[in-house]
Amino acid sequence: MATHILIPYYSTYGHTHTMATAVHEGAANVPDTEVRLRRIPELAEARKALEGQDAYQQAQEQMADVARATHDDLRWADGIAWGFPTRYGNMPAQAKQFIDTTGALWQKGELEGKATGIFTSTATIHGGQETTILTALVPLLHLGMIFVGTPYGENPHILTTEGEGGTPYGPTTLAGGDGSRQPIENELKTARNFGRRLARVAGRLKGLGDAG
Ligand SMILES: Cc1cc2nc3c(=O)[nH]c(=O)nc-3n(C[C@H](O)[C@H](O)[C@H](O)COP(=O)(O)O)c2cc1C
Repeated sequence: MATHILIPYYSTYGHTHTMATAVHEGAANVPDTEVRLRRIPELAEARKALEGQDAYQQAQEQMADVARATHDDLRWADGIAWGFPTRYGNMPAQAKQFIDTTGALWQKGELEGKATGIFTSTATIHGGQETTILTALVPLLHLGMIFVGTPYGENPHILTTEGEGGTPYGPTTLAGGDGSRQPIENELKTARNFGRRLARVAGRLKGLGDAG
């Protein structure tokens, strides 16, 4: 049976969406892999705060055709690549809210043994590239998932280049202080490499959660 990769992401201004499509591309290039790109739903309060901004409206229109992530998507997946921009060095409430609805899956251990990883976007290089991934990892470990990062060997020279996104913990991009910077090729390459790695690892781990 094919390996199933789910990419649930939240994006306010589109940078994380662009990274998600690159993760999708990398995973889909692994033979015998099916990939689902899914949006983590917006929160009503956030929509109210953001809907006056043109950049928000344009990005939301660009993503309008992407289906919403569901618990059945999580069950379907062998590997899950989470994507979201930083909020003060942590995951945004939209992503936390979605993860916080998974109590029933946690009780049954339904996500245990699945491969997982995280990609993010920050305004500036010091704005939480690493902390966003590392803090978001905590609930995923509670859910029993197995973390996949972005090693230096698979991303030669990229993770050691100053002024660009890319961490050993997961792919990242930079939006710039005004949001005008877009993901560059090195960052997209890291995202594709990550998608490929996650699909390979998920394929090897398939069925691990059923063992116990
Ligand atoms: C409430 C809020 C808090 C933010 N906090 C940070 C921060 O701590 N560090 C940072 O670099 N960027 C911060 N940002 C900027 C976002 O990281 C940036 O908008 C995002 O990377 C763009 O990704 P997106 O287009 O996928 O939404 C913040 C944005 C908002 C709205």
